[in-house]
Amino acid sequence: MGGNLTLQDENKTNFLENQKIYKNLIKELVEINCKNPIPLAMIKTYGCQQNFSDSERIKGILKNIGFDFTDDEEKADLIIFNTCAIREHAEDRVFGNVGALKNIKKKNPNLIITVCGCMMEQENIAEKIRKSFPFVDLLLGTDSIYHLPEMLYRVLKNKKGLISERGIFRKVIDEDIPIFRESKLKASVPIMYGCDNFCSYCIVPYVRGREKSRKPEYIISEIKELVFSGYKEIMLLGQNVNSYGKNLDEEINFSELLRRIDKIEGNFWIRFMTSHPKDASFELIDTISQSKHICHQLHLPFQSGNDRILKEMNRHYSREKYLNIVNYAKEKIPDLFLTSDVIVGFPGETESEFEDTLSLINEVKFSSLFTFIYSKRPGTPASKMIDPTSKIDKSKRFKRLLELQNKISDKIFHDQIGKVEKVLVENLSQDPKKLTCRTSGGIVVEIDKKESENLIGKFINVKITEAKRCNLIGEMIK
Ligand code: SAH
Ligand code: SF4
Ligand code: F3S
Repeated sequence: MGGNLTLQDENKTNFLENQKIYKNLIKELVEINCKNPIPLAMIKTYGCQQNFSDSERIKGILKNIGFDFTDDEEKADLIIFNTCAIREHAEDRVFGNVGALKNIKKKNPNLIITVCGCMMEQENIAEKIRKSFPFVDLLLGTDSIYHLPEMLYRVLKNKKGLISERGIFRKVIDEDIPIFRESKLKASVPIMYGCDNFCSYCIVPYVRGREKSRKPEYIISEIKELVFSGYKEIMLLGQNVNSYGKNLDEEINFSELLRRIDKIEGNFWIRFMTSHPKDASFELIDTISQSKHICHQLHLPFQSGNDRILKEMNRHYSREKYLNIVNYAKEKIPDLFLTSDVIVGFPGETESEFEDTLSLINEVKFSSLFTFIYSKRPGTPASKMIDPTSKIDKSKRFKRLLELQNKISDKIFHDQIGKVEKVLVENLSQDPKKLTCRTSGGIVVEIDKKESENLIGKFINVKITEAKRCNLIGEMIK
């Protein structure tokens, strides 16, 4: 094709056309190189939902060029690690797991090992992989997924080892990459990529590039298709969904996008993450409260309850602004469940500044919290800040915070006993005699499984009978 693309087409990058060429080229090489007649790939994903969504695209591409999948490293012809760089611990796990592939490669020298994702966008880390693990064949950056078939072809053909395709942050969004979805019930739909916020502790803006929003028409048609094929829960993804639309020609914000999605016919729930408090508006809360499909759960990371620390974190909101939006949300949506992220031990955080975090937790009463001890990320502004607090003191703070949050969660869970809730039945529990369901507020409820009825994928009503540490117990009511 080529030539002039219309506005409608500009994100359709002819991916499928290109891949047809590589599909045939790879087919021949696979017959020579791979031990399985249908080549098998194993993909291991670390990190956030964005990475899991990327892995669904990686799988979509691989399926398209003739691969099937395995969970067994020993059986695989291709192993891909899709990595996360958010904390040091996440990176260490990847180094350990990549190192362990050395023996597998010894047994199967034709095995292709690929490391991709956020870690690969840091030059020093990519260098470390190149040096310490020369048996890795291919490094790919976060925005180079569309390049995978060509890169695989080059590895298969040249057998020269390391080729890398990183650091390329594309202006277009590749809308026509096929997706291999893991679930038939719940689907992730990215609405934007990248991040422009540069919170001082965070590596994401460096490894994911600048913010870019998908056009609403692509999002709506993807969701329509999903709902049509029976999906019951759509998770809209973005590092800061509240700034959706900023770089689009069309005037549209996140609330307007939600209203358009809400108009789609069908029986389904919408969730979204993550909302940055600096851009969370009263309009957003009104939109949730007036909608048919949006769940009554809001994940609104506060990170710290102290204004000086928030400023040092470059978060662009104050404790007061955060509490204002939360209080408005509680007033408009009385059955709203709030969840959040918090960092303990940011450089220079004093004991009394930490106490402000505890007092905010006490005031808001989150149903659950994702809690992190600050991890130094080389290259970020916070990594250059003086950090006098010892690891032991940070751990003590962390423990105090967890104890407080556990008490709050216990009370919130206990208060649900006796209530009747609409839930989505998601799957079998670890105990195969039970089913795992989830409320609109995002709380897991376990119910007994009845042999006579297959309830998975259905919305049902349950009465809450008991509260455990991490979930509720309920019984189905007709
Ligand atoms: N875009 C989301 C967060 C994505 S990262 C937002 O702004 O809310 C998920 C969480 O990891 C963050 O909310 C933060 O709490 C935590 N995190 C990020 N960088 C970190 C670091 N260097 N150390 C510890 N926790 C960190
Ligand atoms: Fe990181 Fe802040 Fe962007 Fe979230 S908003 S991804 S914490 S820089
Ligand atoms: Fe990790 Fe990258 Fe997500 S750093 S948290 S996988 S955006």
